[in-house]
Amino acid sequence: MKLDQLHEAAKRAAEASYSPYSKFRVGAALLCSDGTVFTGTNVENRSFGLTICAERSAIVAAVSAGHRSFASLAIATPDSHAPVGPCGACRQVISEFLGADAPVRFGGADGSVVDVTVGDLVPYDSLHDLSGPR
Ligand code: THU
Repeated sequence: MKLDQLHEAAKRAAEASYSPYSKFRVGAALLCSDGTVFTGTNVENRSFGLTICAERSAIVAAVSAGHRSFASLAIATPDSHAPVGPCGACRQVISEFLGADAPVRFGGADGSVVDVTVGDLVPYDSLHDLSGPR
């Protein structure tokens, strides 16, 4: 699947966002190596700190369904004109399951997109080598 299509899925996922506090919707779409797509959105909480980001929602959904191997990730932030990259916590979780070469696309409402790799988001990820078979 092309990143364009995956990004469209991320935009649709953002429509389900539960974000009454920030009013900032985020959608994520994760492409599994077998072609399956899982989506996620941000789910906020009145305690703020328990908010779950869209990227982690998608990863947790996919892993919960038995997937471990992923090809790419797209993120949509329709309430921002410019593209918004994943937060630090999400970058760490993304790096747990996607390889350093895996493409990540993020884009906002102005239609522009940023294409990077997981390695760009999490450089010097030497600890990754310590995690054995996944
Ligand atoms: N958010 C995400 O879902 N992903 C990110 O990578 C950045 C932040 C959410 C968390 C919160 O619900 C809202 O966006 C504002 O920070």
